Amino acid sequence: MRLTPILLSLVTVSLAAPANYFDDAYDFSDELSDYYSKVSQYINRVKKSTSPSASCDTSKISLPSFASGLPAPNGTKPMYVALGRGTQNYTCADSTSASTPFAIGAVANLYNATCLAANYPDLLESLPNIAYKISLPTTEYATFPPANLELIGHHFFTSTIPEFNLDTTEAKQFGVALTKKESSLNAPSTAVKGEYGAVAWLYLSTIEGTVGNYKGVYRVNTASGSPPDTCEKMPSSFEIQYSAVYYFYGS
Ligand SMILES: *[C@@H]1O[C@H](CO)[C@@H](O)[C@H](O)[C@H]1NC(C)=O
Ligand SMILES: *[C@@H]1O[C@H](CO)[C@@H](O)[C@H](O)[C@H]1NC(C)=O
Ligand SMILES: *[C@@H]1O[C@H](CO)[C@@H](O)[C@H](O)[C@H]1NC(C)=O
Repeated sequence: MRLTPILLSLVTVSLAAPANYFDDAYDFSDELSDYYSKVSQYINRVKKSTSPSASCDTSKISLPSFASGLPAPNGTKPMYVALGRGTQNYTCADSTSASTPFAIGAVANLYNATCLAANYPDLLESLPNIAYKISLPTTEYATFPPANLELIGHHFFTSTIPEFNLDTTEAKQFGVALTKKESSLNAPSTAVKGEYGAVAWLYLSTIEGTVGNYKGVYRVNTASGSPPDTCEKMPSSFEIQYSAVYYFYGS
């Protein structure tokens, strides 16, 4: 039931905002204008439709086609889809070109994009391209602009284990996926690179300790997040902003 308000608020924002607002806030780009033009098309379609499908039928969810380079979900089913927004963290042994950045994990908020994935997958596909430049809300449970998505969890590393914790409030306990990287795929050449490149697409399987029916997690539609090739002039630890879409599959 949420889709129409989401889309309408997007359009309201874009119509209300003067062009230079986006210049300052989001670095107006071709991606962004493409995004908003898609939104307008969807709005028109929703308006024309006599029975606008505002449902979140997870059986309609499928991975973007480029993810066919990762292990297929086989018998598992899509459970949730989340927009991830945060940082990839790295360390450098020194500040010379002789050493390379070492990935120490990610810290990201996860926002509920299940409805978008079920109904408007290509809209969701381009969302990380602008999301990685948008600051996280300072209030913990605030929705994430520009699509007003609700917080559904947090992604972080517990020592070296990628964790997706979908328990937020007392009323919203959706479990915890503890994972292990199984497979990675270089982001497509069309990915938005940010300063140094988009992080790889991934397939992670769940491991012991997982709470809930999660079997696998896909990280796709990545934007930015990669480190420079070498540590030249880099500090001993640093963060690179990124965004991605996470698909949670299970039984
Ligand atoms: C699904 O099955 C195919 C074919 O056996 C296999 O290559 C792939 O790794 C499987 N996917 C997962 C997530 O295990
Ligand atoms: C990674 O960066 C975040 C800030 O985005 C910080 O809060 C966190 O402590 C860092 N984690 C590690 C392991 O350095
Ligand atoms: C995500 O949003 C949909 C639609 O509002 C809702 O049905 C679903 O329960 C939400 N999922 C989580 C994990 O909050």
